Amino acid sequence: MNIEIERVGVVGCGLMGHGITQICAQGGWDVVVREVDQERLDKGLAKIEKQLARAVEKGKLSQEDADAVRGRIHPTLDYAELADCDLVIEAMTEDLEAKLEMWREVDPIVKEGAFLATNTSSLSVAEQAAATSRPERFLGLHFFNPAQVMPLLEVVRAEGTSDEASDLGFALGEHLGKTTVAAGDNRGFIVNRLLVPYMLDAIRAHEQGVGSVEDIDAGMIAGASHPMGPIALADFVGLDTLASIASVMHEAYGEERFAAPPSLTKLVEAGHFGRKSGRGYYDYSGEKPVAAPLP
Ligand code: CAA
Repeated sequence: MNIEIERVGVVGCGLMGHGITQICAQGGWDVVVREVDQERLDKGLAKIEKQLARAVEKGKLSQEDADAVRGRIHPTLDYAELADCDLVIEAMTEDLEAKLEMWREVDPIVKEGAFLATNTSSLSVAEQAAATSRPERFLGLHFFNPAQVMPLLEVVRAEGTSDEASDLGFALGEHLGKTTVAAGDNRGFIVNRLLVPYMLDAIRAHEQGVGSVEDIDAGMIAGASHPMGPIALADFVGLDTLASIASVMHEAYGEERFAAPPSLTKLVEAGHFGRKSGRGYYDYSGEKPVAAPLP
């Protein structure tokens, strides 16, 4: 499919939104990225700056190309600037009500014929599509963290998604150099359906005295050749995000293996969201992460 996109909108410049913004700009598209306040916007843009500088330093990107990527990114606090986008990708927190409210506001602003997509990791794509006037042009585009590095894009087809929208998802993935897989609109799609219970089970194993946080992680790195252990991965994904995916999946499937273990709930309640907040199962304040005492 010849992809007819010039301008992409990204709603949210957090953990996922900043990465999606960067790869779309690197893919040659203009990107309008919207955040709720200047502080969050600046924080996300600083992360992009850092990644671009790193790529230049390593000789993977020329200074001119990095400047051109930066030039294609248009930060804003105003939904009105999404009007001209050919595709708008939502990358907000995993809160269905907040997403629905955003779509009700954004759908009438974005030009007719444009596509809308959600980067949700677990929530219903169909329910979000139904909040818009164009469910046939709505799809799930699930990127993985860090979006700049992880090769996968899950293309999620909801009940009303048209062939055209689904084809656009695969063409977009190809354009960005991603491996694409087709996933149904079930909770957790393919990867989280398998990865989330694995992380939760690793946490439960620790709670049950099977091994220390470090030993469980070291075990899976050296024993299964994973790039990162499951508990470090939980911190990396964000414990708030993991807990909210667990809650959605537990409700959908009714199986205990999807329930958030007690220590995860306690950490989230204490505001320890993992790497992004400086503490989760590990403490990130020192030179190297060390296992943190549980609350
Ligand atoms: N942004 C951009 N680039 C990054 C990055 C980031 N946040 N973190 C690392 N990189 C790049 C580095 O620049 C480096 O690039 P080069 O090879 O070009 O030099 C490369 O990734 C490797 O990085 P490092 O050498 O610093 O570190 P590493 O080898 O330990 O790799 C990692 C880091 C890529 C994160 C690796 O540990 C990994 O793959 N971990 C597993 C990540 C994973 O499973 N993600 C999916 C989470 S689940 C999810 O996202 C779904 C959901 O809905 C919850």
